[in-house]
Formats: sequence, structure tokens, C-alpha cells
Amino acid sequence: MRRPPVLSALLAVALAGCQGPQSALDPGGADASTLAGLFWIMLAGAVILWFAMNGLIFYAWRTKPRPVSAKSARLLIFCGGVIFPTVVLFALLTFGLSIMPEQRAPGEGLRVEVTGEQWWFRVAYWPEGASEPIHSANEIVLPVGIRSEITLKADDVIHSFWLPSIAGKTDMFPGRVTRMSLMPTEPGEFRGQCAEFCGESHAWMAFTARTMTPDDFAAWAEAEAKPAAVPETELQARGLDLFLSQGCGGCHAIRGTPARGRVGPDLTHLASRGNLAAGALDVTREDLIAWISHPEAIKPGAKMPAFDHLPLEEIAAMAAYLESLE
Ligand code: CUA
Repeated sequence: MRRPPVLSALLAVALAGCQGPQSALDPGGADASTLAGLFWIMLAGAVILWFAMNGLIFYAWRTKPRPVSAKSARLLIFCGGVIFPTVVLFALLTFGLSIMPEQRAPGEGLRVEVTGEQWWFRVAYWPEGASEPIHSANEIVLPVGIRSEITLKADDVIHSFWLPSIAGKTDMFPGRVTRMSLMPTEPGEFRGQCAEFCGESHAWMAFTARTMTPDDFAAWAEAEAKPAAVPETELQARGLDLFLSQGCGGCHAIRGTPARGRVGPDLTHLASRGNLAAGALDVTREDLIAWISHPEAIKPGAKMPAFDHLPLEEIAAMAAYLESLE
């Protein structure tokens, strides 16, 4: 049978929302699987009830009216209007509450501290036994099969940490620490998003989550704890000089260089991350040039000043250096 094109298009759009790196219905984590299970059970319940109610309406419409006693009418209203909804809602509530302890289980091993900023995510990793955190931004890397503890904070306004494919959503409040734990079950790359309106660039406040085997994670953490790569070409060395002389180090840290600022994202291993400017751009030469030249054109209200007073060739040198920070 040929489906009308409009219907096919609508169906494709509707189903496309069910998968991908940022879908609660395409889980890559234990908590997201539980939540997806809850969704499907609720949906199945709703579908069954919808058919049952419409069946009753159809039955009432097709059946000839006949007198019933006041007693059976009262009994019908009591059973259908009180007992039935109470039993159904109680069963759904019990099921919903029964999965809550799982969602609040304490993490083991890795602790990650994520702080919401306008408009990016500050990330600090505390691997087991570490005395110093590893600083990063806009990306969280997690081992598969291990429940990691995430502590959430905010610096300025309320944000919300939402990683639908791995777990649920938890708000981030200034002056208060909230927590969640999550356990990825599949290696891959997922997308998270700030889910609380936090200013003009709220929609541009995203992050990447990379999940990997515990061995890969250990190798990653070791590399991430190291200082930044030393410039290898003349262009990269010039980029580092410009980065320092233009005062970028007042806001950004690049470990192994004099840049120690903590206002903006840590750039030590910028090029190893899955995104630039909290998901707004990719870590490519062109995107770095665009960002350094006009941050506010990409993210309205961005706190980083524009460096468009510099000649393009100098901005390109900085971009070449930053792009080398694997
Ligand atoms: Cu941060 Cu919305």
C-alpha cells in the first residue's frame, strides 16, 4: 500500500525523535533504560485504557438503553469511578516509586563535579584516590559498567544537567550541591543539554558525554592529567605567544604554560574534546577562528570578549595552537 507522502514525512519526523545521541528512548545507560522502561509501561497502560474506554463508549452507543436498578448504577459508578482508578494509579505509583532507589544509588570509584556557568559546563574529575582534580569543560568522559558519582553546582543562576541517553535530569543551584549517579552501559558519544532557562544563550549550553571501557577510561584519565602538548610548529609557537600576550591566560588555563585563569574553560586538552563553546561549534581551525573573532555572534551574551581587533593571521595562529592541544 502506498502511504501518502505527508504521512510518511510525519512518521519519519516522529520516529527520528526516538533515536540518536540525545534521546531518552535510545538508552546507553542503566538509569536511562529504567526510565525508558517506565515510559513504555506508562504508554502501554495509556493505550490499553484508551481502547477500553472507547470500547465502553462504543458499547454504550450500540446498546439499546434499558432500565437498571439504582443499586447497580451506584455499584457501577463506585467500581468504575473509585475502585478502578485507585487500583490503576496505585499500581503505577508503586512501580514508579520502586525504581527510585536505583536512580539515587551512590556512585563508586569516579566522582565528577560539574558546575553550570553562563553558558558552559565546568567539569572536574576526581578519580579514585586522586588528591587533585583533572579540570576540563563541556565534556564528561565516563567508564562503562561503573556507577559514577556526579556532584552538581552552579556559579551564577540555576542550570539543569540533562543527559537523556544515560540518565535523567537534575537541577544545578548556586550555593547548593545536588547529586546524581549514572552508569553508562554502552561505549559511545552522547549529547547533553542544559534544561533550565538560564539566560540568552541557554539553548547554546550543551555538552558531550563520551563513554568508554574502564581500560580506555584509565588511559584517557592519564593523558588528561598530563600538561598540554608543547607547540610543534612555528605557527603553533606563535599562537601560544599571542595567547599569552593577549591576556587569554587571565581567564583560561593551559596546564604547562603560564596561563592559569579559572574564569573560562580549561583549554589544556581542548582538541581532544567533542565540541567547542559548549556544543555550539566543532574544534576545527575555522570554528576556532570564528569563535575567537566574534564569540557574541555565535553565543549572544557570551562573556568572552571579541578579538576582532587582531589581524586574521594572528587569530589563525592562535587557532592553530589551540587545535593542537590534543
Ligand atoms: Cu544553563 Cu540553561
